[in-house]
Amino acid sequence: MEEQEEEFKKRLIEALNIEINNCKKCDLWKTRNKPLVGDGSINAEIMIVGESPGYYEDLQGKAFVGEAGKILDELLDLVNLERKDIYITNVLKCHPPRNHNPNRQEVYSCIGYLYKQIDIIKPRIIITLGKFASKEVFNKFNLEFTRISELHGRVYEVKTFFGNIKIIPLYHPAVACYHNEMLRVLKEDFKKLKSILNN
Ligand code: URA
Ligand code: SF4
Repeated sequence: MEEQEEEFKKRLIEALNIEINNCKKCDLWKTRNKPLVGDGSINAEIMIVGESPGYYEDLQGKAFVGEAGKILDELLDLVNLERKDIYITNVLKCHPPRNHNPNRQEVYSCIGYLYKQIDIIKPRIIITLGKFASKEVFNKFNLEFTRISELHGRVYEVKTFFGNIKIIPLYHPAVACYHNEMLRVLKEDFKKLKSILNN
């Protein structure tokens, strides 16, 4: 990527980050420590989208540092990727108390930030973790979302203003913390990245 383009990207992301850090569009700002805007390299070709920051993510301001993060690191290991090779963010930027599922008001208020991050970062591959992230990313690209149990591990190619990209919906790694069978499926699905990256 050209240096100028990278610089431009960096400025757009910095401006967006300031906006998110000051956001009070839904009630979650009242209980958050600070928003988790995203983590990793904005020049990465792979973007991973989770659901919302957990307790430890909220404390540390870093993505996937808890139990689900350990699983994510195992998955990245499988395909020889490191955190610096990807950009990670979530549907909601602020931690929902007791990790409640994102509600309509929260998603409606926050989703524009994720959509802008995608348009600025322009990833070649988006991996969505769990049903909430998958549903919202599918919406952006006019794909029909049914159930994560049906769609997980499939590769969806979509046209965007920055070229064709691939979307891969997966189970959320938090689920795999408690179900060994889910962990096995998640690993199988994740390995598909290998052949895509090699092409
Ligand atoms: N779970 C998520 O969905 N996102 C995080 O950042 C951490 C845990
Ligand atoms: Fe703003 Fe999103 Fe945080 Fe709600 S969750 S306060 S919309 S950044």
